[in-house]
This record gives sequence, structure tokens and C-alpha cells, in this order.
Amino acid sequence: MGVERVQEIANFSKETIPEEFIRTTYEQPALTTVQGTVLEVPVIDLSDPDEENVVRAIVDASSNWGMFQVVNHGIPHETVRKLKEVGKAFFELPPHEKEAYAKSPGSQSIEGYGTKLQREVEGKKAWVDHLFHKIWPPSEINYQFWPKNPPSYRKNNEEYAKHMHGVVDKLFRCLSLGLGLEGNEMKEAMGGDNMVYLLKINYYPQCPRPDLALGVPAHTDMSAITILVPNDVQGLQACKDDHWYDVEYIPNALIVHIGDQVEIVSNGKYKSVLHRAKVNKEKTRISWPVFVEPPSDLEVGPHPKLVNEANPPKFKSKKYSQYCFCKLNKTPK
Ligand code: OGA
Ligand code: NI
Repeated sequence: MGVERVQEIANFSKETIPEEFIRTTYEQPALTTVQGTVLEVPVIDLSDPDEENVVRAIVDASSNWGMFQVVNHGIPHETVRKLKEVGKAFFELPPHEKEAYAKSPGSQSIEGYGTKLQREVEGKKAWVDHLFHKIWPPSEINYQFWPKNPPSYRKNNEEYAKHMHGVVDKLFRCLSLGLGLEGNEMKEAMGGDNMVYLLKINYYPQCPRPDLALGVPAHTDMSAITILVPNDVQGLQACKDDHWYDVEYIPNALIVHIGDQVEIVSNGKYKSVLHRAKVNKEKTRISWPVFVEPPSDLEVGPHPKLVNEANPPKFKSKKYSQYCFCKLNKTPK
């Protein structure tokens, strides 16, 4: 028996949605979003030749929001357009073609096509299907999870991965300098050139009750940083000072999330952002986050140069794999 995909459920949900998708009143987006506010996630121009300016803006955004958008980031717009084109085309294939990439039920690996099977703590489900696969480094890639159809899927994803290094390096350099470290030290603390880029495609079908459902419930990312591109359907929300704000869709911008590992290495100076995704009544929303992660066996903890007697470590050091296991199984950190 197959798993029920949200894409299929959406096809026969014309006015209502199954009860397990209806959020509690504490989570329903219609009840919990700040309306008509002027507060916005910062937008940072990465091409500004004044590096101190960029560092200041990134430090400010990473300390206060844990999220920002970057423009003039150096990834060609055509590369991003082609990444989106093939991802969308994959999800538009007939079900049996997508199921060829399905995660097998007992699999330990996160890679593959899927729908979250377990209900969350409150017994609710999220309105989304996904595809996960690594895109970097080449030695970590499992091509069996990369769609063969459309035929340009592989080429377009490889091109995106190749262009990401420039942005990733620049962001880590600024985050590092902003802590008073050498430019390369934050990246080195995350595994340097052995960092893993894990791509996820979120496919949020149109939903008759976007006021009651969520695409992704509130969470922080486990990664070091996450670099996300959405299609043009707004849906991402960030939590700041206990309030939820819509993150504006800016064409050609990349959305950067500070993840848990950067919060840990910075010993709490930078904050991993609590965020969630809404769904849309008329349109399918799609997003492409890339989780930039330490290698699984790398131990990550507060940077030794940032801790001393006056500033004790606020986090335990842990192998990244161990951190993920604890978080997913909700065991104490
Ligand atoms: C995620 C996530 C947000 C979005 O997949 O971790 O936060 O905008 N997605 O799709
Ligand atoms: Ni996320």
C-alpha cells in the first residue's frame, strides 16, 4: 500500500481539508500573524564593496532576526530559474514516476521523495510533500535520488551547487569577522570544504483552507545556515519577539536562515530563526532550501576563542549526527 501524498489529497479537497491538517488555535496562521506591520526581515546587498558595511548588516540581522535576504549575490538568475524549472517539472510528473524515488519506509537516510509519515506532537500533519538529496560535495552525492526526468535535472542542479560556493564562503566570512574571528574560522568550525549541501524541495499544493493549515510548522533548522529560494508565492514567516511576520517575496533574492550550528559556534550571539510556512488557496507554493551542514561526524561546539571564564559555553559540543538524532527524537540537548 502506498503512502498518501498531500498532492493527491489536495486533488480531492475542494472546500475542506481532512481534520488531521487543521492546526490548533495556537498555530493557525490566520489567528497568529501580525497584520499590516512594517517590520521586515533585512535585505542585504552582497555586492557592496564596503565589506564592513556588509558585516555590520549581517551581524545585526543574525543577532536580531536569525534571517535575512541577500540580493546581488552572484548566483546567475538564469541558474536559479533553471533549478526551479526542473524541480517543478519533477513534481508535475505522474505519481508512479515520482514514487520511483520514494524513501523506503525503514530507511535511515533522509534522502528521497516523501511525505512526513509521523504526525507531530499535537497529532497534526503538514500540507507538503518533499524531495531531499545532497548536491555537494561530489563524494557525498547519491544520484539514485536525483530525478532522471526532466533530463536536464542533473545538469541544472549541478550548476546551482557550483555557483553556491561563492555565497556560502562570503556569508561564513562575514559571520566570522562579525564575531572578531579570522575570516576563515567560522567555516573551518563547520568542516571547511567538507561541508555538505543538502537540497530539499518543498511542494505545497494549493489548499482550500490556508487559514487553518500549515505547510511547515514552527521550527529552527539544524543546519549551519540554510539558503532558500521560493517560487513567487509568498508563504514563509519568521518569528521575532514572539510574533509571526510574513517574509516578503523579493524576485531574485536568496533567503538566508541562521541554523542551530551557527548559533552554537557563535555561543549564542547569532540566533537560529524560528520560522514556518503557510500555504495558498489558489496557487501551489514551492521552495528550494539548501541546508549547509557540517559533516555528520564533526564535533560542533562554541568556538574556543569565544569562551572564557567570563563567557562560559552556553551549548554542549556534539557530533552533528548526534545533534540531529537528539533533536529529531526530542531528547535533551
Ligand atoms: C524548511 C522550511 C520554509 C519554506 O523546509 O525547513 O523552513 O519557505 N521551509 O518553504
Ligand atoms: Ni526550515
